[in-house]
Amino acid sequence: MSTPPTAPFRWPAEAIWEAVAPVLPGFTVEVLPQIDSTNTELMRRFRAAGPVASEPVLLVAEQQTAGRGRMGRSWQSQAGDSLTFSLGLPLQPADWSGLSLAVGISLAESLEPGNPAAPAIRLKWPNDLWLTDAQGGESKLGGILVETANWGELRYVVIGVGINVRAMAEALAPAAGQPAALAPGALQTLLPGIDVAETLLRVAAPLVQAVQAFGMFGFSPFQARFSARDALAGRIVKLSDGTQGMAHGVGENGALLVHTAAGMKEITSSEVSVRPMTPPAPGSARAC
Ligand code: BTN
Repeated sequence: MSTPPTAPFRWPAEAIWEAVAPVLPGFTVEVLPQIDSTNTELMRRFRAAGPVASEPVLLVAEQQTAGRGRMGRSWQSQAGDSLTFSLGLPLQPADWSGLSLAVGISLAESLEPGNPAAPAIRLKWPNDLWLTDAQGGESKLGGILVETANWGELRYVVIGVGINVRAMAEALAPAAGQPAALAPGALQTLLPGIDVAETLLRVAAPLVQAVQAFGMFGFSPFQARFSARDALAGRIVKLSDGTQGMAHGVGENGALLVHTAAGMKEITSSEVSVRPMTPPAPGSARAC
């Protein structure tokens, strides 16, 4: 049985366009009822037409049939349960490191504004949004997939975002060959009644601003804001090469700092996966 969509969706395309177009010339908002993947579609367009298809666009899909996550994983979602969109635009930062962290910070702050002392939305390096419930349990609220392509000198970035808004009626089984991930959370447990359209309205314009700020200044202005929501800080983590250590936040370039038996390691590779091994200190979030 699948969850009935909150149909018809009333996407705030015009409101988003009005907020963003003055600061991002050429910007458009496009909503599709179904597509394989919004990231795949924007990459396809850019690779086929280059500069002609490089105008900034926010592509929203009500339903993805082949949503993708990092490291070849799939992103499964159902219409009305999950907000799925990609922002594509040309970008020329001096240094690309930390972009997915800056995106995560923007999303978290839009959905839970006001610098709470104990935020419910935390960021798990490098690309996950985690939700902490009142009992300290953690679930995956969202994920970010950043991809880039070149056409001559032109560098184009596609920032894909998936946010679990409504609890799924039934858990989707992990795709064949993939490990079970952290259980999906639901934004509605933090913001009762919010739907996918309202979620998009909250996050879209601030996200564009954050990406523009990243393009100009890089990650360093985001570093302290990341620390305020760092889900791994002070926890023992296991890297995909088997090394274990304690997470010590991120550096100016967004690299994860892990104190291992061999000293402090800077983890920058997007190919490194990190798993928390221990519960956090009493009073903070529980380990999964
Ligand atoms: C992850 O958790 O590994 C990242 C998930 C990113 C999912 C979003 S949904 C919109 C966009 N289109 C995709 O195919 N993936 C991203």
